Parts: sequence; C-alpha cells; structure tokens
Amino acid sequence: MMTNDQLAQWDRESFFHPSTHLGQFARGEAPQRIVTGGEGVYITDRDGNRLLDGFAGLYCVNAGYGRRKITDAIAKQAGELAYYHAYVGHGTEASITLSKMVMDRAPAGKSKVYFGLGGSDANETNIKLVWYYNNIRGLPQKKKIISRWRGYHGSGLMSGSLTGLELFHRKFDLPLGQVVHTEAPYFYRRPDPAMSEADFTAWLLAQLEALIEREGPETIAAFIGEPVLGTGGIVPPPAGYWEGVQAILSKHDILLIADEVITGFGRLGTMFGSDHYGMKPDLITIAKGLTSAYAPLSGSIVGDRMWQVLMQGTDENGPIGHGWTYSAHPIGAAAGVANLELIDELGLVENAATVGAYLRAKMTEALGDHPNVGEIRGEGMLCAVELTSDRATRAGFTPVASVSGKVVAGMVKRGVIARAMPQGDILGFAPPLCLTEGEADEIVRVTAEALREVLG
Ligand SMILES: Cc1ncc(COP(=O)(O)O)c(C=O)c1O
Repeated sequence: MMTNDQLAQWDRESFFHPSTHLGQFARGEAPQRIVTGGEGVYITDRDGNRLLDGFAGLYCVNAGYGRRKITDAIAKQAGELAYYHAYVGHGTEASITLSKMVMDRAPAGKSKVYFGLGGSDANETNIKLVWYYNNIRGLPQKKKIISRWRGYHGSGLMSGSLTGLELFHRKFDLPLGQVVHTEAPYFYRRPDPAMSEADFTAWLLAQLEALIEREGPETIAAFIGEPVLGTGGIVPPPAGYWEGVQAILSKHDILLIADEVITGFGRLGTMFGSDHYGMKPDLITIAKGLTSAYAPLSGSIVGDRMWQVLMQGTDENGPIGHGWTYSAHPIGAAAGVANLELIDELGLVENAATVGAYLRAKMTEALGDHPNVGEIRGEGMLCAVELTSDRATRAGFTPVASVSGKVVAGMVKRGVIARAMPQGDILGFAPPLCLTEGEADEIVRVTAEALREVLG
C-alpha cells in the first residue's frame, strides 16, 4: 500500500472500522479500500477499480447505486427541513407518508410503524415493546426471548445477544440472561445425514418444544427469526418449518418477531419474507431495503394485538418511554418514500424473483458438480455456495473460512464482490434487486474461475 498517501494513512491511524481485525488493519496487514462512487450494480474505488457488487453493500443497496430519484429526494428534504424530531406527535410530510407506504405494503394484521436508525436498534425496540406488552398484561415473568443459533439480529447488547453467532458474544459477556437459543433450520448441517427434510423439520420442532418445556412456557415472551437465515449462512428453512414453529408459539402464547431487515421490501421476490412463508408475525423488523441504504432508517412494524395493549399501557402509565433523537429522521424518510416508489416503478420485487432464480440456476450449472461444492441454495435474490472438503461427509475446511476468503479475494481481483460468510466456508451473494441476467452471468463466470483457481 502507499504509505505516503494521506487518506490511506489517516484511515489506518484514526478510523475504528466495524467487523475488522483491528491489529492487522492498524499495522497495514489487512486490505483497505476507499470507495468513491457507485452506479447501478457497480462501485468504483480510488484506485480506479470498477467492481460488480454482488452483495449490494451489506445486502442493502436494493435499488442499486446512483439512483437520482432517491438522491434528489434527499437533497430536496435537506434543503427544506433537514431535521425535526418525532416526539409528542411531531411529524413531517416524509415521515407520515412513509409510514402509510410501509403499512400499505405490510402483511395483514399490522397496525403501526415505529422508525429507528438501523436493524440493531429496531430489534432493541422490539424487545422493549415485548417486555412492556407482557408487563401491561400482568405477566411480568414472561420475558425470555428465543432466538436461533446462526440467527443474526444485530450487535447491540440485546440484539447482539439475540444473534446466535459466537464471534458476536465472545469476550463481550453476551448473550444476556433473558435470551435462549434453539437449533438453526439448516438442512445441509442436519445432525444426521439420513434425515429427510420432513424428519429434520420434525426434529427442529421437537427441539423447540423441549426448550420451551425446559424453560417453562410462562417465562417465554417471544421468538425471533429471519425468514431466511442471512449472516448465519444464507439458509432458507426446510419445508413446513414456519408453519410448525407458529403452531407451537400460538399454543404457548409466545409472540413471533420476524426480522426482515434483509428480506423486507423484495429480496425474496415478495414484498416481505413473511408473505413468502405464510408467517403472521406480531412484530416485523425492517431496515436496509427500506431506503436501499441511501440514508439510515429502520422500523418496527407492530401488529394489532400488541398495539391494543401498548395503547392500554400509555393510558395507564403515560407516554411511551421510548424514542431516539433521530427516530423518523426526515432525510431517511424522504429516501424511503422515493425508494419504495422506485421499487414499484422498476418492478424490482419481480426482478428479484426471476433474476435471482436465474443466478442460482446458472451457478448450479457452472459449479453444481464441483467436488468441493456441497450445496448451492437461496431464495429470491439470495444465493449461497457452501464449500466442503469432502462432499460425502460434508466436512468443512480447517481453519474455518480459510478457503472462502481466498475465493472471494480471487473474485475481487476479477472485478466481482461476494462475501465470505463469517461462519463456515460459504460464498454469499445478495446483489442489488435490479441485477440483469448479463450481470448474473458475470458473477457466475468470475465465481467459477476464482473457485477453480483456489480448489482446482
Ligand atoms: C437480519 C438482520 N437483523 C438485524 C441486522 C442489524 O442491522 P444493523 O447492522 O443495521 O444494525 C442485520 C444486519 O445485517 C440483519 O441482517
């Protein structure tokens, strides 16, 4: 790297990067990229590279880069009113319009949307609302939250506890005591290879029932899950999973929180993942695709039965003791309105379904028979290629994630960004929803080339 370059040097000296090896980065041993522009599915960096972003930033730039409709809306809002708060009944045209647009798109049975800043804080909000709900109902013991191993729900104190990935707990004294984890609906990693998909679903449901019995159903308030596991490996659930989970939760008066930070607003080829899997959540977490990440904004969509109790709570206790300075920030809201309009105008939800299916089909054609490819899976505009050192035993590589990191590095050299998923040797793809078939072909060509360079 150029040690005489000032920006690069300031970056190493001053910038605490999230999810980064701090020592290696500070010492100049880990890579650095200074991103300068974006157009469509491509980003450019300061060194003149143009890269096809096969992960849409962090599965968030759903509309693609450089959308004037969104940037103009942001500029207009900033010029007219860059900020006003949303406390004690204040709103702006943008925040009120966006709430209406979100509720028009939300699955049935939903009442209101609370706006935050990012997925992590939206999940913090959700758990506070769940606790408040059960306190108002006179059930102060009913507070534990069930999450899944490999689930990802953020990296705050509660949201990081809900996250079921060891890296986010180790040395942080997480998870907090009120969180219990159950098994991941990850068919490829089922405990016994002889299990059919139906057997595996039955096993997962039995594990969940056993956990609820062990903890005591009267202590469990809610279950949180992503419709499709994201950061835990891009893993769609086995058939019958959500139906079975919901039956168990209803039996025990346990709320369902659908974390749709990745799946909300089209990624699975339906407006919400809950629509896709017939889920009827009490709370839905939204973020990323709400603004296509043009400005930070998240939300908690609250279902009818909770809303009635929350209103009762404020009748009894006064205004809800919850809010952020930047809740419903006008610039984020203006970005959200323009983005949701654009998603409709460009037919991005439908495109996610068709081009996403095309991407997986082409990936399977190119790599399905490779001896180190264990599984190619996904849903909508999500695709994962899980690598294995031995197809028969499904064994991973040691150390974990060493091979996927090399493949992804080989891909970047060839102009395509994929993500080496943090747990396991899994190549992750979550391109902008506007991806074309030609761009999908390019992703597949580069993946195959880089994979063969590393694994033969
Ligand atoms: C499903 C899910 N929930 C929550 C989060 C946390 O969102 P944020 O990083 O905006 O706090 C993420 C981020 O990737 C996510 O994928």
